Amino acid sequence: MRVRLNLICVSVMTILLASTGGLNAQETNYDEAKIPQYTLPDPLRCADGTRVTNAETWTQKRRPEVLALFAEHVYGRAPGKPEQMTFMTTSVDKKALGGKATRKQVTVYFNGQRQDPNMTILIYLPNAKAKPVPTFVGLNFRGNHTIHSDPNIAITTSWTRDKDSDHRATEAGRGKSASRWPVERILGRGYGLATIYYGDIDPDFHDEFQNGVHPLFYRAGQSKPAPDEWGSIGAWAWGLSRAMDYFETDADIDHEHVAVMGHSRLGKTSLWAGASDERFAIVISNNSGCGGAALSRRAFGETVKRINTVFPHWFCDNYLEYNDNEDACPVDQHMLIALMAPRPVYVASAEQDRWADPHGEFLSAKHAGVVYELLGEKGFPAKTMPPVGEPSVGTIGYHIRAGKHNVTDYDWDRYMDFADKHFGTP
Ligand code: GCU
Repeated sequence: MRVRLNLICVSVMTILLASTGGLNAQETNYDEAKIPQYTLPDPLRCADGTRVTNAETWTQKRRPEVLALFAEHVYGRAPGKPEQMTFMTTSVDKKALGGKATRKQVTVYFNGQRQDPNMTILIYLPNAKAKPVPTFVGLNFRGNHTIHSDPNIAITTSWTRDKDSDHRATEAGRGKSASRWPVERILGRGYGLATIYYGDIDPDFHDEFQNGVHPLFYRAGQSKPAPDEWGSIGAWAWGLSRAMDYFETDADIDHEHVAVMGHSRLGKTSLWAGASDERFAIVISNNSGCGGAALSRRAFGETVKRINTVFPHWFCDNYLEYNDNEDACPVDQHMLIALMAPRPVYVASAEQDRWADPHGEFLSAKHAGVVYELLGEKGFPAKTMPPVGEPSVGTIGYHIRAGKHNVTDYDWDRYMDFADKHFGTP
């Protein structure tokens, strides 16, 4: 009797597994053995079937092709620099942080109008260094005033995720994210730091793109982006490029040595910003995962379907085609890393951040190496995944640190080492 019951159980299980292709669609795969068979698209194979064998063909032909594929299928096309844009410096304090820093706050009016949306760039520059200084720039999640307890950082008036205060930022948030932004540590190493609240550019919830910067660019009669036009990640990356437009006007910032850094969804954003705007001299992805550094075809941890379902506003609508259909996508994320070449790029994972697929992040960095090598750069030194806490650093850098999904001093120290290596110690 027991044997028969067991048999029935086994066959019910078999039917269930068969009907879901062996893996329940709702279930997250964390098992390397269950990763689907996949073949990565070749970064060096052109759409016409020819193979890139020299730097010129990469730069003139294949790179623009790959960039256009990411724009069309993943992040969406974005407008350029708005002609009417203006910058207004709202405050400068040359004795900020006890005299260590110069703090500037600059508001960017995207279409020159003093109305929403506009974004405020918070900048700290080390007083101990001769200007211009190399600078890190990154978007923050909760408002500029959360990155440091400095009482003079202006509080954003944009929508925030803070439900308790009716989605408005308040004084209570001041300094709350300081552990992710070690301002004094960065200044102490001779770098400047600039940051912008990402919700100033586009609030992070799906409203069919009625708020944020998208409506500023609708054509007559248009009410939402077309399937190949920018989602929120595209807009946030576009905002970083507008910050770069400002840096080019500020003689205290060495705009040829700006490193763009982002964590998680903002790491996806820093990668897309670095790919679409070659003025960023170093590009850093911190735990960016699916739609960032992790290979989509592995479907390990977060998948394309899951991210498109939970965050329908992040990517362009064409990306929906690849829900449970990653193989059909003409690109995978190693090609995004390759778009940075020959500029230095750094990918960082965290051991417990399995949702972001650390191994898939490592493989992207590794498989971008062919493009770096073609361009005469030492791509990626590691052949296999480096151990926890042992970075592998060439023109492509990678580390996996112990701990969770987060940005820590350990991560920042590695990014500054990387910048020292490629920019020269400031
Ligand atoms: C979610 C999401 C990730 C994203 C992360 C974040 O976990 O699934 O893709 O990176 O949020 O941005 O915090």
